[in-house]
Amino acid sequence: MCGIVGIIGVEPVADRLVDALRRLEYRGYDSAGIATITADGLDRRRAEGKLNNLAGKLANDPLAGTIGIGHTRWATHGGATETNAHPHIAGKVAVVHNGIIENFKDLLQDLARDGYFPQSQTDTESVALWVTRELDRGAAPRQAVANTLPKLRGTFGLVFLFDGDDKLLIAARQGSPLAIGHGQTEMYLGSDAFALAPFTNQITYLDEGDWAIVTPGKAEIFDFDGNPVQRIRQTSSASAALADKGNHRHFMAKEIYEQPETISHTLAHYVDLSEEKVALREDLPFDFAKLSRLTITACGTAFYAGLVAKYWFERYARLAVDVDVASEFRYREPPLADNGLTLVISQSGETADTLAALRYAAKSGQHIAALVNVQESTIARESHVVFPTLCGPEIGVASTKAFTAQLTALASLAIAAGQARGTISASEAHTLVRALVELPSAVSEVLRHEKSIEGIARHLARASDVLYLGRGQMFPLALEGALKLKEISYIHAEGYAAGELKHGPIALVNEEMPVVVVAPSDDLMEKTLSNMHEVSARGGKIILITDAEGRAQAGDGISDIIEMPRVHPFVAPILSSIPVQLLAYHTAVFMGTDVDQPRNLAKSVTVE
Ligand code: F6R
Repeated sequence: MCGIVGIIGVEPVADRLVDALRRLEYRGYDSAGIATITADGLDRRRAEGKLNNLAGKLANDPLAGTIGIGHTRWATHGGATETNAHPHIAGKVAVVHNGIIENFKDLLQDLARDGYFPQSQTDTESVALWVTRELDRGAAPRQAVANTLPKLRGTFGLVFLFDGDDKLLIAARQGSPLAIGHGQTEMYLGSDAFALAPFTNQITYLDEGDWAIVTPGKAEIFDFDGNPVQRIRQTSSASAALADKGNHRHFMAKEIYEQPETISHTLAHYVDLSEEKVALREDLPFDFAKLSRLTITACGTAFYAGLVAKYWFERYARLAVDVDVASEFRYREPPLADNGLTLVISQSGETADTLAALRYAAKSGQHIAALVNVQESTIARESHVVFPTLCGPEIGVASTKAFTAQLTALASLAIAAGQARGTISASEAHTLVRALVELPSAVSEVLRHEKSIEGIARHLARASDVLYLGRGQMFPLALEGALKLKEISYIHAEGYAAGELKHGPIALVNEEMPVVVVAPSDDLMEKTLSNMHEVSARGGKIILITDAEGRAQAGDGISDIIEMPRVHPFVAPILSSIPVQLLAYHTAVFMGTDVDQPRNLAKSVTVE
């Protein structure tokens, strides 16, 4: 998660770029840099470490220019060195980037054949070089960027600055946020409205897949397919408040949309993205190879993340796993195996039952690990090792981005455990890591289907009861789907393992009862299809969340299908979370409930 900024000014911009970066430092601060156009062409200053180092450098060696871009970095590819700091300059273009270019190695290989080589170890430089090659082949800046964007796989917020044109910035957004700021005579770009608050409160947010040509007084915006689009200009309240909904109606929607970025950011903590292998930064007080048992305990959505993890740890690490709701675990007082690890999962790190379960396990001599989002929390402080989720503050009461970040971290830990225990080979581990690396762009793709999910939610909002079904690692997703729907729409919903349908819940099925089936195509799909036939034979309406192959396999008799891109089955539970969340969100919006603060709930449950 990096911060980016751009200014087309009438006055010198260097100091203001640094000022904006200061407001973005929460997104990363292991190096920073700015680039401008001076009388001699493109120039830049970059420095390792906190922004003050860059400010110090600029004090001794100022940078002129009335147009510029800036970046504060949280390293993913390549160490936190000055060489890897942004902006990256190649020929006549400078670029700043927030996100991960997944196919940068392929791009660099192609570029090398034409004699274009990087100076840094970053994924970003591949973008600068690709645009440069387009410029060298005669394309104008606008066309050079238009030719480059379709080549990029992954997530990006990008801002380009071109030598010889001090009235042009080009920006693009896929999975990483980007806002355009409108001034009187100046134009601005930033990762969020808060960065631009000192300059303007007139903000246009780019949507997923948008890119924009920004010139004085004007922003021309195009969608993913290159069609001109209008995005509303709004007055931001970001100057006053740190937490801002951006162009979303609710924090929950904003947080759903942040997931390509929050998954990438969390992944970059657990995985060496250049080598594509898991590389844990934590000093482990236990050895995965020697663990006798893993006990996972948590509440609500975090508990469901633990349930998914059980499938992963058992399958890939052959490690026996118990998963328990913390409020039961603590009162049941279970005997715990010697040399066992208890992993508690909590977004807030303050949930009273989870904390009590942790304390019970610690007293029983377990190794204690915590997977938390709030790293200064009580649960984090009382654990032997803390695994972070890096998704920033979650404001919406219904957990969304914390859930997918928890799953991302748990998937990485399961691979690490599998390798330590010798139950997966290096090449299997690489395949699984690759699947994780490719996930953020698949999430972006699902987000582009929001409109059709909204249409399905319109029908769902008329139901008084909804059943969710899933099999194998999709069973916890059925539970999570039902929880999400009931907590924000107040519609009664139940999640079941698909195989349990015939043992009771099928009695509920009739024409009034929508049944949401979470079933991406995998080796269990056929079995789930039989359950779907059992539902449709009784007049039940099926909403199927699947991929293209699942759609083909399912055939007729399905009321609605939400189609996701096909991903490796390992990461399918993470991707399936997105339609499940959007379905609940839009249903709640149709119901007119208080989406971000549903009745009777609280974000942090510090009572028993
Ligand atoms: C549901 C939800 C809750 C929390 C649960 C645990 O959307 O947000 O079920 O998951 O209260 O909270 P944490 O993770 O803070 O321990």
